Amino acid sequence: MTAINEVTDLRLESDIAVLTLDSPPVNALSANVRSGLFDGIQAADANDDARAIVLICEGRTFIAGADITEFGGKAAAGASLTDVQAAMQNAKKPVIAAIHGTALGGGLEVALCAHFRIAIPSARCGLPEVNLGLLPGAGGTQRLPRIVGVETALAMVTSGRHVPAAECLELGLIDEIVDEGELLDGAISFAKKVLAEDRPLRKVDEFNDKVEAARGKPEIFEAFRASIARKTRGFLAPEYNIRCIEAAVNEPFDEGLRTEGRLFRELVTGEQSAAQRYSFFAEREVWKVPDVPRDTPQLPIQTVGIVGAGTMGGGIAMNFANIGIPVTLIEQNQEALDRGLGVVRANYERSAKRGRLTSEDVEVRMGLLTGSLSIDDLAECDLVIEAVFENMGVKKKIFADFDRVMKPGAILATNTSALDIDEIASATKRPESVIGLHFFSPANVMRLVEVVRADHTSKEVIATSMALAKRIGKMAALVGVCPGFVGNRILAPRQAQANALLLEGAMPWDIDRVLFDFGLPMGPFAMSDLAGLDIGWSKETSKGETLRDVLCEMDRRGQKNGKGFYDYGDDRSASPSPEVEKIIRDFAARSGKETREISDEEILERCVYPMINEGFEILAEGKAIRASDIDVIWVNGYGWPVYRGGPMFYGEQIGLDRVLERLRAFQKTHGDAFAPASLLEQAVTEGKNYRDLGY
Ligand code: CAA
Repeated sequence: MTAINEVTDLRLESDIAVLTLDSPPVNALSANVRSGLFDGIQAADANDDARAIVLICEGRTFIAGADITEFGGKAAAGASLTDVQAAMQNAKKPVIAAIHGTALGGGLEVALCAHFRIAIPSARCGLPEVNLGLLPGAGGTQRLPRIVGVETALAMVTSGRHVPAAECLELGLIDEIVDEGELLDGAISFAKKVLAEDRPLRKVDEFNDKVEAARGKPEIFEAFRASIARKTRGFLAPEYNIRCIEAAVNEPFDEGLRTEGRLFRELVTGEQSAAQRYSFFAEREVWKVPDVPRDTPQLPIQTVGIVGAGTMGGGIAMNFANIGIPVTLIEQNQEALDRGLGVVRANYERSAKRGRLTSEDVEVRMGLLTGSLSIDDLAECDLVIEAVFENMGVKKKIFADFDRVMKPGAILATNTSALDIDEIASATKRPESVIGLHFFSPANVMRLVEVVRADHTSKEVIATSMALAKRIGKMAALVGVCPGFVGNRILAPRQAQANALLLEGAMPWDIDRVLFDFGLPMGPFAMSDLAGLDIGWSKETSKGETLRDVLCEMDRRGQKNGKGFYDYGDDRSASPSPEVEKIIRDFAARSGKETREISDEEILERCVYPMINEGFEILAEGKAIRASDIDVIWVNGYGWPVYRGGPMFYGEQIGLDRVLERLRAFQKTHGDAFAPASLLEQAVTEGKNYRDLGY
């Protein structure tokens, strides 16, 4: 065995050179890795005792891509990726990439320069750069379509999907699958077979049939663009990836590579990719809780109880049933229980109809759900979650019952989105077991969970809750107890400004359009219409004091009855409502407000800057661990466009000094809703970013 450098070794297995890469955690293509690969391939090629070269990786995965931390920073040192690829392609003897885990991005691009690829069944290959706001910049867009064809390549580069080994074999992306656990032996046998059969050394660059087949057919690209337009609205990278595949079809290989390089550089130096790379790391950091170390003991969670089988309780239950954890659902009467379980079944059956589940899956999952009318039946559960309506008295009563019936050590969780969890915990004699698990509706779909730490919540309960959230496929952020926690607390000032803007002369559709164009899935008024304007409103108690009261009194209740802030067509298409415009103008006049023309820029600043400001208040109060956690919450729970990082990242991107200056100006004209947070003032005065400030 010869060490090529700290991360690569070369050895001979009879007449096969085995180049092993070992650079934890994911063998990313850092400068060291590139140099090791380059020198290793050259050494193996020069060694007359070696007749073929196997490239294989240690650890959890084959090369998972370029080292993302190198992007946007200093110029990368050492051998370039192109040098490594050329060394592989130009080797005089067969080079075989042996893949386990994931061959992603630059990892797959390296493998595409081997003459052959083999993998174990659990391996996956993909070009996920699009999810970092990038494109595969090392020939991936030129080589992939030459193997898998243009349509498949388009789908792969714009979705970033990790394609399973069996499918890769069908696509020709890998040449053979070997048994799990037998990768090295399989690769050596494969190499010997290649030598015995004297197979020609294949260079993907020279495969032209599939790209030529698409030449002169621009309709392929136009149809593809149309098919992903809705999903990729606002993102630059999908379109850039498509242009690269077009180049693969219409330009000679080397020119295509140059086009790819040019477009890659544009993206990697742009704002969107900076935001998406930031988000990648933010979503990994969010799991780390400084005072709850990785080795904190966790409580085993094998059974779950949920009180409340409404939309929320049922949705939460599905998350556990989906991974095989039995759930007992409690309701007050049989009818409510049957209705709740019926909704869950209907949800599963819809998934089955769409081909996402088999009918057996539906039955297995439903079989894990048990209904009951007695909280006493939860006694042996490891975790109970209260998911009833927001009423402190009711919740305290349920927690007193939990205290009475639950076995010692069980986690007692509330799904409240608004109430004080410390007060809820005070109804028990074990506040250390109490935690908030704030799921977002629909809870079986939405990715975010705010894990809410109360004053006495134990570290074991926090560690277990975070790990459990990960197990059920959620993105969890640990937050503190405060009104609205982090997500809704930040939403509140935006909603207040949206409402205020209406009375100053902006129409609901103006405000919605500005926020939609900014990248949010919908604006606040379209959202209200979807939810229903009459939630929590009643004719008997309405005083006609708010705009909502007036709209509801006029039977404008939202999408469900075809009119709310908007008028709805039979196909649910929304159009601005002249009636609403008049209602708003009259309402403003009665409130003594003068209306004026309001620019899109003002709408955006008035809605978004108070959110950033609130984020600073939250950080100063210690209710979020770090600024990037706030961003993870807003991207995953509220549809903030990931290409803008999140409200806190966006604040830094436009400049905290600018945010502060505008807040001060708005404070003068509109009052203390815009009073800047002291921490924001400190950041600007001291010229510091979140990290400098310790967030
Ligand atoms: N560069 C640098 N660090 C990386 C990395 C990369 N490409 N991929 C993962 N990491 C780090 C993570 O930040 C994490 O670090 P911490 O433990 O310090 O938090 C660690 O590796 C483990 O990652 P995960 O927690 O994500 O581990 P996992 O086992 O759940 O998933 C994975 C592994 C599927 C490889 C996942 O990490 C992943 O999807 N990585 C990104 C893959 C990617 O996008 N590759 C393309 C890169 S861009 C490119 O290659 C451009 C080009 O064309 C040259």
